[in-house]
Amino acid sequence: MNIDIKQDYPELCAAVAQQVIDCVAAKPDALICIAGGDTPLGVFAALVEASNDGRVDFSRAFFLGLDEWLGLGRDDKGSCREMVWHHFFDKLPLRDEQICFFDGLTNDPAAECQRVDAFIAAHQQIDIVVLGIGMNGHIGFNEPGVSAENTCHVVDLDPVTQAVSVKYFGEPRDVKQGISLGIKTLRAAKRMILMASGEKKSAIVAKTVQTESSSDIPSTLVKDHPNVTLMVDRAAGGQL
Ligand code: F6R
Repeated sequence: MNIDIKQDYPELCAAVAQQVIDCVAAKPDALICIAGGDTPLGVFAALVEASNDGRVDFSRAFFLGLDEWLGLGRDDKGSCREMVWHHFFDKLPLRDEQICFFDGLTNDPAAECQRVDAFIAAHQQIDIVVLGIGMNGHIGFNEPGVSAENTCHVVDLDPVTQAVSVKYFGEPRDVKQGISLGIKTLRAAKRMILMASGEKKSAIVAKTVQTESSSDIPSTLVKDHPNVTLMVDRAAGGQL
């Protein structure tokens, strides 16, 4: 795994955004997957600015959602859908057919997994995926103990994830399950970026780097991907 430590969050976001821009320049119909959550918010802003400035053309690109809380939809503050649309998709001139995103309000999560798996299969491969790292090492909603053989699947959320979720929702919500791309799907991506920012992530970033690959810390399960880079700011890289 390559490690790239940037000075601060703005520099980190600019560098991650540039990776996405380069990917689309090389392949205009690229399939792009960027996590929700707080970590990529600056990447979204940088990509919107690049699109407005004509430095990237997303008109032929495709976007894939990484995960979603089951039971939450667009109108629920802090859902992945709400965050990613608000900060990113709503600000770009995209057509609906360019986006594939889990529907957290589905009555049939298994069918939803099949739908998303089929979308990815139709595109053959995710060209670039930008992942955040949870406080427990989760990537997407691949929680500690996850199998590395999963494609899209329904997840029982880890207590750490349930506790952390309050920061998105602004209040405790009864979220017990999520739906997520699996480790197998992520590992099949052509290019993978693991992104982390801030001192609070420094311990899990150090564990990711220093621990043998293990499902106890899902972020370690992608370390041997042939084209993965851990991109962090100095605060998140402080224990490396
Ligand atoms: C969000 C996601 C999660 C987050 C992770 C870090 O779609 O898949 O794995 O990337 O929990 O969250 P933040 O960035 O809020 O610290």
